[in-house]
Amino acid sequence: RKDVGILAMDIYFPPTCVQQEALEAHDGASKGKYTIGLGQDCMAFCSEVEDVISMSLTVVNSLLKKYNVDPKLIGRLEVGSETVIDKSKSIKTWLMQIFEESGNTDIEGVDSSNACYGGTAALLNCVNWVESNSWDGRYGLVVCTDSAVYAEGPARPTGGAAAIAMLIGPNAPISFESKYRASHMAHVYDFYKPDLASEYPVVDGKLSQTCYLMALDSCYRQFCNKYEKIAGKQFSISDAEYFVFHSPYNKLVQKSFARLYYNDFMRNCSSVDDDAKEKLQPFSNLAGEESYQSRDLEKASQQVAKNLYDIKVQPSTLLPKQIGNMYTASLYAALASVLYTKHASLDGQRIVMFSYGSGLTSTMFSLKLNGGQHPFSLSNIASMLDTLPEKFVETLKLMEHRYGAKDFETSKDTSLLPPGTFYLTRVDSMYRRFYDQK
Ligand code: ACO
Repeated sequence: RKDVGILAMDIYFPPTCVQQEALEAHDGASKGKYTIGLGQDCMAFCSEVEDVISMSLTVVNSLLKKYNVDPKLIGRLEVGSETVIDKSKSIKTWLMQIFEESGNTDIEGVDSSNACYGGTAALLNCVNWVESNSWDGRYGLVVCTDSAVYAEGPARPTGGAAAIAMLIGPNAPISFESKYRASHMAHVYDFYKPDLASEYPVVDGKLSQTCYLMALDSCYRQFCNKYEKIAGKQFSISDAEYFVFHSPYNKLVQKSFARLYYNDFMRNCSSVDDDAKEKLQPFSNLAGEESYQSRDLEKASQQVAKNLYDIKVQPSTLLPKQIGNMYTASLYAALASVLYTKHASLDGQRIVMFSYGSGLTSTMFSLKLNGGQHPFSLSNIASMLDTLPEKFVETLKLMEHRYGAKDFETSKDTSLLPPGTFYLTRVDSMYRRFYDQK
């Protein structure tokens, strides 16, 4: 099987959102903290009529329709999500309604969850399936769906909500370079959800930032080693056109790319120019641990990497800056941003992806792009991503009240939802959920 990877992609995010500038003022944060400090413009959230299930129903329905894919042709369906509603009952089973209608119940796969990493686990499972002996010739379908909400406090502006669907198969315009894949997995308590009665995580923000960067370093080191063994030459950031990162907020993405640049400097890569070498020299003897705490290094590396950041990373930041952290969907919304803005010049290019989920799990992997065949072409994927962006506290209060609740009806106010969107209508006394389609 050649070029197994992503054939088609669609994204859905709720129409309800809050401007970070307004949230700053509301929270009494200093002006610029969320917009410049975190680098975010806007944040989407689910109102009471939407949730991870309705968003996933919407996006799957929409992808099948837009690309005219017969539901019978799906042989594996995997969901990545960390927003657990029915705990033991997977979101995948909800999506089966769409396939049962066409008589297709022969679909492998369930949900994967580990913070923001579940979508990547689902994607790797589907790719592995198509590459394996168990493949029956049909498509894989990956769904990432999450609503990221935090308790009042510094983490709240780093929420977001969206669902992404990706169709998987051979001869894909976005294919996996499966040999170039490196993971870093470890046990940490940086972010977790031990309180089953609350939608909010317990989060150690500073620790989660450091863990993210340590995981990035470790994956990049392994990735470079594997590349060098197979390709017989050194890997540096000049070997990929774009770098796409899991995006909790834009500032961390800026810091991450700077960190890769610092790694290239430490590995003596020829891609690091003399001026940068001089500026980074004072930090060449920092021990690993110290290097994560050094504000001077952070600033110096961001400064020397700035030009390359604008070229290799900035195109991926469009959706994450507008929608916020979409947890499992975040990395793939960033990829969609590159496809949307750069599809005409991607033929033959490489994109390196970094997926991180607290707790922690992380993988760096490589994608190779080619024009593709209609309808599974880069230009068609870009044209289908047409849903791009143009009473937060009260809504969250209501959601806190509703989370894990039973026996209630929603307002069924769908005035802001586009036609075709699924929405929650009621939860009965047995916690069973009911949805309608507008
Ligand atoms: N103007 C411009 N910049 C400002 C301003 C201002 N008025 N005020 C603060 N800043 C800058 C700070 O200098 C800092 O930038 P720097 O790191 O480049 O120096 C940035 O804004 C953030 O300010 P902090 O004081 O560091 O922010 P705080 O500690 O209040 O919260 C945090 C940030 C920890 C990220 C919090 O939002 C959080 O916990 N989020 C959830 C956890 C998270 O997203 N972790 C990421 C990986 S794990 C995951 O995906 C869930």
